[in-house]
Amino acid sequence: MSLLELKSVTKVFGGVVAMDKLSFSVNEGDIYGIIGPNGAGKTTAFNCITGIYKPEEGEIIWKGENIAGMHPCDIAGKGIVRTFQNIRLFGKMSVAENIISGRHQKSKQTWFQGLFSTPFYKKDEKENWLKVKDIMKLMGLSEYATIPTQSLAYGIQRRVEIGRALATEPELLILDEPAAGLNEKETFELMELIKRIKDSGITVLLIEHDMDMVMQLVNKITVINFGKKISEGDPEYIQSDPVVIEAYLGSEDDEEEEN
Ligand SMILES: Nc1ncnc2c1ncn2[C@@H]1O[C@H](COP(=O)(O)OP(=O)(O)O)[C@@H](O)[C@H]1O
Ligand SMILES: [Mg+2]
Repeated sequence: MSLLELKSVTKVFGGVVAMDKLSFSVNEGDIYGIIGPNGAGKTTAFNCITGIYKPEEGEIIWKGENIAGMHPCDIAGKGIVRTFQNIRLFGKMSVAENIISGRHQKSKQTWFQGLFSTPFYKKDEKENWLKVKDIMKLMGLSEYATIPTQSLAYGIQRRVEIGRALATEPELLILDEPAAGLNEKETFELMELIKRIKDSGITVLLIEHDMDMVMQLVNKITVINFGKKISEGDPEYIQSDPVVIEAYLGSEDDEEEEN
């Protein structure tokens, strides 16, 4: 059954049609890839799904409900969480503190309970830390728990960011170019972690520029160019689709990266 479905979603920025009647459907348990040249509208699609932008047209159906135009907090509350293309962490805070900050977004505690350390607060806070411990283990971060994130390698910071997103206990994790800026070893490690996240029961929607990574990781792909879907299918099909090859060869950002 489809968990998330975009139906003919359009987003315009002052004359620029960033997303043009885009439709695709993500099933529970997918690692779903969105690829396309720079400026194709990938991040815009994610911003519409997570409520940062309200699309002009179309529906975004999450478990049967149209969430297009809802407030980002309400969408997060429904179990959809994302990371950003650029890392956004609290640099002076430790790995564990950064991850628990994701937890506090969904906490039922009130300031009153925190101020007076009520039994509810203590129980809730204990559960939060236990969850953070599990996430650090899953993401291979336990050994860095107390280290401020700004002093860690980029690849580890990226894992912290994903860990913080996981702290909200999402059903759908949306990753915007998670391998950007990572070296080959870090990218490989990240792929293994994304597989682990999927195995833990979370559906993953991923924008990625690193083609090798996408092809190895995802089970289904939508390719967009100039805001429009130009192809859709499994990695094998996409790799051999002339329309996709043409879009990539024709784009300027198809540098030959040796990393
Ligand atoms: N907030 C915005 N205001 C104006 N134009 C934007 C905004 N966000 C994105 N765009 C434009 O929409 C198009 C798609 O951008 P984006 O979704 O970031 O592409 P991608 O993530 O695929 O590289 C681009 O032409 C971009 O300049
Ligand atoms: Mg982008």
